[in-house]
Amino acid sequence: MLGPPLSHARPILDGEAMLTRSSPTIDQQDRFAFAQQAEAAIRQAQRRYEELVDSLEAIVWRADAGSFRTSYVSKRAESILGYPITQWLCEPAFWEAHLHPEDRLKAVASYRRATQDKRHHALEYRMVASDGRNVWFHDSVHAVVEDGRLKEMIGVMVDITDRKRVEGSVIEMTGRLINAQEEERRRIARELHDDFNQRLALLSIGLERLELSAETDAAHSSHIGDLRRLTQDIASDVHRLSHQLHPAKLEHLGLVAAVKGLCRELSEQYGADIDFLYRDVPTSITKESALCLFRVAQEALRNTIKHSGVRKGRLELIGDRGILHLCISDSGAGFDSETVSAKGRLGLISMQERVRAAGGTIAIESRPLRGTRISVHLAA
Ligand SMILES: Nc1ncnc2c1ncn2[C@@H]1O[C@H](COP(=O)(O)OP(=O)(O)OP(=O)(O)O)[C@@H](O)[C@H]1O
Ligand SMILES: [Mg+2]
Repeated sequence: MLGPPLSHARPILDGEAMLTRSSPTIDQQDRFAFAQQAEAAIRQAQRRYEELVDSLEAIVWRADAGSFRTSYVSKRAESILGYPITQWLCEPAFWEAHLHPEDRLKAVASYRRATQDKRHHALEYRMVASDGRNVWFHDSVHAVVEDGRLKEMIGVMVDITDRKRVEGSVIEMTGRLINAQEEERRRIARELHDDFNQRLALLSIGLERLELSAETDAAHSSHIGDLRRLTQDIASDVHRLSHQLHPAKLEHLGLVAAVKGLCRELSEQYGADIDFLYRDVPTSITKESALCLFRVAQEALRNTIKHSGVRKGRLELIGDRGILHLCISDSGAGFDSETVSAKGRLGLISMQERVRAAGGTIAIESRPLRGTRISVHLAA
């Protein structure tokens, strides 16, 4: 119904008009009147349909599947992007030319794939308006197939700029909260390490001396010995806690060394068996990315130990053309993300928020009795 008005009715009407000029019969007059009414009804329906389409808070478009050329675009396009409709229709690659340069490759590739597969697809991208503004769209595209052949594509572009702005500020705010939390952890870790641990060490030395001086009184000496051992245990727990809170190794020795240390610590502490494989990890990783990947690995491995029931996991860290791929997996109990309640649980949520705030992507795949796999892709 969209597009240029129907034209197939014209020759019939002209034919009817010629007949009318000679000597129309009653039957011919009826047919003529009927054709006129039908055409008026079609025009009215088309006008209503166009009014409806133009009143939508969205741009409706049609394009030739092969050439990409826009054959119809609703009037709303003018107020949203500022270009006249004629420009959409006359410039051969208007849509492609006005995509945001950072989104062009992805959007065009996605559109091409959808035309090849003759399927519905949806994508989000930015276009540059006539006054230079960036406008975000959610474009829902349908392939029109007739007799197995792709005829054209029809799409609805909804302006989602406001939603993207809100999402952007939420991500920024999350990033700031994560940074503040890391800063606080660093402060507590330093305090535990430099102050509490030193004082506990002094206490342990004092108790050792006391233990030696009380050698003659066996019961007394053994009691002091117990207190000394207890103090040493507390000191090593505080030491471990300070390292978990802030992995100093990460800053000084880098991501691979810090992850190795984490696997060793968890093996010692819980008897876990974790395979760590790494390949082509660049030495220059931004502090933010390194900390994000370390925290994801830390939480995912803790979850493996706490929930999988197998205490055996695998961690892979691979660098590939500036992107780091981290994958933590186990073949344990798994879980159903639909039924696991997020209430009071922070691990998985904080992993997702961290990765999003660092500009990466994360996938959490798990099925009951089929294990769990967490994959992260992040720029180094
Ligand atoms: N590797 C895993 N194997 C089996 N179940 C898992 C695994 N990882 C997560 N889960 C399930 O998902 C739930 C949510 O995990 P999440 O890390 O968010 O919370 P938590 O570990 O229970 O608590 P928190 O991390 O806040 O201390 C867990 O309670 C558990 O049921
Ligand atoms: Mg957890």
